[in-house]
Amino acid sequence: MPLPLPVPGPLQIQPLFPVALGQVQLRPDPLELAEQVQALHALRGDADGNPDPGCAWTGDLNGVWQLHLHPTFAPLIATLTGHARCYLEELGFDRRRVVLHLQRCWPVLSEPGQVVGRHHHPNAHLSAIYYLNGDGSGRSGCLRLWPPRQLNELVPGLGAGHGGPLTPTCWTEPWLDVAPRAGLLLLFPSCIDHAVLPNDDPDDLRCSLSIDFMLTAPPTPEGQAPPEYLAPHPGQWQAITEDGVQPA
Ligand SMILES: [Fe+2]
Repeated sequence: MPLPLPVPGPLQIQPLFPVALGQVQLRPDPLELAEQVQALHALRGDADGNPDPGCAWTGDLNGVWQLHLHPTFAPLIATLTGHARCYLEELGFDRRRVVLHLQRCWPVLSEPGQVVGRHHHPNAHLSAIYYLNGDGSGRSGCLRLWPPRQLNELVPGLGAGHGGPLTPTCWTEPWLDVAPRAGLLLLFPSCIDHAVLPNDDPDDLRCSLSIDFMLTAPPTPEGQAPPEYLAPHPGQWQAITEDGVQPA
């Protein structure tokens, strides 16, 4: 689709190639929310770092990576995956021609002062975060998202500031911060670098759930081929072992 032509007048700027950040504000039931937070406390046990005390406790590194199978969380996760399917549809995916796989789902618990360093999820295609608490102010620690490359700063690095000649505007911000709020779901491409800023709320444990999804083709009938560049359905893969090729 060609870009719309500008109308006569002053300079107009249009965003090109936008990254799709999906947001859904759910209305969690307070009793269910309390039960979920209590369950997360129990799953974390005596640990409080990961293992560095400055790093938030994350379930994926501590054996708690299948919350979608946990009875306290399964109904919530099913709701969240429904929104993930809507996100795919908004991007243009034909839901009949792709299968969305939930790969893992784990909690992230930040005590006051704890962070999660900058990273991305190379194991996945689509990632989601759901907040169990937060008041929208950001004081419990914003999620920071970085663009793969900030082309608009023109000179690489200038958007980060440090006394340079560029004062970032909405076109040149080096990152985007999202404040946690109870019931907020975020969806974004897994390749996007992100981090969690320090929890500056001395009275609250910051609680969120993370989900990684993968996309594959549906099971392909005999004699047909899955779309190029899309992995075949894992039910049609074969694992290679020391004993040779084994069905997946
Ligand atoms: Fe992450």
